[in-house]
Amino acid sequence: MASLSNFDTNAVLNTFDFSKFQSICDVGAGPGTLLKAILKKHPQIRGVIADLPQVIEQAEPCDFFQGVPRNHDLYIMKHVLHDWDDNKGIQILKTVKECSPSHAKLMLLEYVVPGSNITSSGKLFDLHMGIVNNGKERTEEEWKNMLVAGGWNYLGYENTKGIISVILASKD
Ligand SMILES: C[S@@+](CC[C@H](N)C(=O)[O-])C[C@H]1O[C@@H](n2cnc3c(N)ncnc32)[C@H](O)[C@@H]1O
Repeated sequence: MASLSNFDTNAVLNTFDFSKFQSICDVGAGPGTLLKAILKKHPQIRGVIADLPQVIEQAEPCDFFQGVPRNHDLYIMKHVLHDWDDNKGIQILKTVKECSPSHAKLMLLEYVVPGSNITSSGKLFDLHMGIVNNGKERTEEEWKNMLVAGGWNYLGYENTKGIISVILASKD
């Protein structure tokens, strides 16, 4: 997970400009590799990593089925929702919505599985997630439907130079 995270981090930093945000919360951050890299590039941004209390000592403790840190401009979830089926994923999205301010944006960093005849490592990860975790890699349509069911406005997605994509949604 850690080495995959380094690879994804560079791809995301080279694709998306985080400088317009004042505060970012990385939900289910693990060691927070991505957020640490964002803050190194943009030291003016305030950032919080949030995870289960037993996982990371420096994290703000949270259970994303109950609540996440409040009042951040941008909420990031990287490789979090692919661990969960649609019902649980929608619950997590609703929690983040409840705890975020009205201007908040949400960024999912996940694989976007392409159409049936296109080769994609996301399809192998999809098999893996289904067997190991009851999770799922999703197509653009599936991400959009899940975000909307969780109360978010789907804004679109952008591929990075890696295999991860940047999926954006807004609360208002
Ligand atoms: C697949 S890891 C992704 C970690 C990191 N975002 C990354 O990309 O390297 C999923 C993360 O979600 C966290 N997590 C699982 N259940 C959680 C919960 N109920 N509340 C908060 N975090 C949770 C795990 O501890 C883990 O760090």
